[in-house]
Amino acid sequence: ASLEKLDGSVPAPNRVQDRSRTAEPMPRDSFVNTPDTDPSLPANRAWGRAILKRVQGSTLGNAAVEAATINDETTLNAVIETAVEKGKAWGAMTGAERAVILHRAGDVLEARRADLLEVMASETGKTLDQGDPEISEAVDFAHYYAEAARKLDDVDGATFTPAKLTVVTPPWNFPVAIPAGSALAALAAGSAVVIKPAKQARRSGAVMVEALWEAGVPKDVLTMVQLGERELGTQLISHPAVDRVILTGGYETAELFRSFRQDLPLLAETSGKNAIIVTPSADLDLAAKDVAYSAFGHAGQKCSAASLVILVGSVAKSRRFHHQLLDAVTSLKVGYPGDPSSQMGPIIEPANGKLLDALTTLGDGETWAVEPKKLDGTGRLWSPGVRYGVRRGSYFHLTEFFGPVLGVMTADTLEEAIAMQNQIDYGLTAGLHSLDTAELGTWLETIQAGNLYVNRGITGAIVQRQPFGGWKKSAVGAGTKAGGPNYLVGLGEWTSKPSSA
Ligand code: ALA
Repeated sequence: ASLEKLDGSVPAPNRVQDRSRTAEPMPRDSFVNTPDTDPSLPANRAWGRAILKRVQGSTLGNAAVEAATINDETTLNAVIETAVEKGKAWGAMTGAERAVILHRAGDVLEARRADLLEVMASETGKTLDQGDPEISEAVDFAHYYAEAARKLDDVDGATFTPAKLTVVTPPWNFPVAIPAGSALAALAAGSAVVIKPAKQARRSGAVMVEALWEAGVPKDVLTMVQLGERELGTQLISHPAVDRVILTGGYETAELFRSFRQDLPLLAETSGKNAIIVTPSADLDLAAKDVAYSAFGHAGQKCSAASLVILVGSVAKSRRFHHQLLDAVTSLKVGYPGDPSSQMGPIIEPANGKLLDALTTLGDGETWAVEPKKLDGTGRLWSPGVRYGVRRGSYFHLTEFFGPVLGVMTADTLEEAIAMQNQIDYGLTAGLHSLDTAELGTWLETIQAGNLYVNRGITGAIVQRQPFGGWKKSAVGAGTKAGGPNYLVGLGEWTSKPSSA
């Protein structure tokens, strides 16, 4: 395979970047991915340690959250009406004009990388190594959608009219990249945005929004709200002026939104229950490492996380594979993000409901290979768990838990393993570890998931390289992929231009 990307551009070299210096400006006429922080540089480690010192007691974002809090219907309606009104001028700008502001947003997000890492760690428990690529992704979204906005000016035969008002309801697990990506896409398309960050991650959302304001997105065009009452959320989603809703969250939330308003124009990326299949041809050491990282990165709280590994044929009995996997899992250092040695942080709130079940209860035929342990009185700090013997069709096989538990299944053949994954209602990410091209062909033809990864982990999609979006119950509404060439298409209406001939 060549290094050329689909659009013919050459990927950015892995630039060594010292975070203690001002970031290099990005080129302005094309897109390149921004590099993550390189922890091998002593200056970057010192930079990271300084951030961790500020995590406890961090107040970043507080003032903006307070200013965004709405407690009554009249105020919410006024916010919606103002956004639509002020959004008109934003939508009337050319894509190229909006691109200038979006590129600047990418630069401000980059400049505030340390603040964003601090607030995410403080508010959600995200460790720096998990947070850093997330900031890179947010920066990438800004520059990528800036270029996408420019392209809207110049489409043969059709005119694009942006949505007037897009409501963005992001999750808490990627509290910067997902709200940033969703808001930036809608802004790039020319729509006004009302964003309601998840309540568990509202300060992180607020610091991100402040960065976009600082870059020149008018406050009335990008309005942040926190809603005092649940009913206000219903009112926001159902408001007739809202002509797009970008939701990232559970499938049930998408259904709930639809129950408020049947004709809701929804772009939703929803739940996942994802498996990595490992065949006997695989590099088993690499597979064990990728499974552990995909299952337990950010304590498994990613819609993209590996919740299952399906071992084909002799892999099920491979002592080497089991040893490597369990060694990787039991050696993970669990702790709060303020401690630089923490590799896996806390879960977002004390384990309850389905997740508590998954951490404490075994199904028929299941055994703990590694039993999860509650590590302190908060209910948030759990060591990772691995269960063997997950049966086809069982509760653990088919249910999303969103936490640090991995289930191991076995299959006689690759086809059987694929059928096990496809039996799941969701289809978000899927992984194959195999060095056999015939197996790869079979898997690619038949696996039902939106994002496919071969011989690597299944989390951490990269803007432009791996546009991200689900299939089956992992997507509701317009199925375009975030960070891909068609995402803005769904954020407005297209009309044919009268032929000039
Ligand atoms: N885009 C996130 C990932 O790929 C969810 O892990």
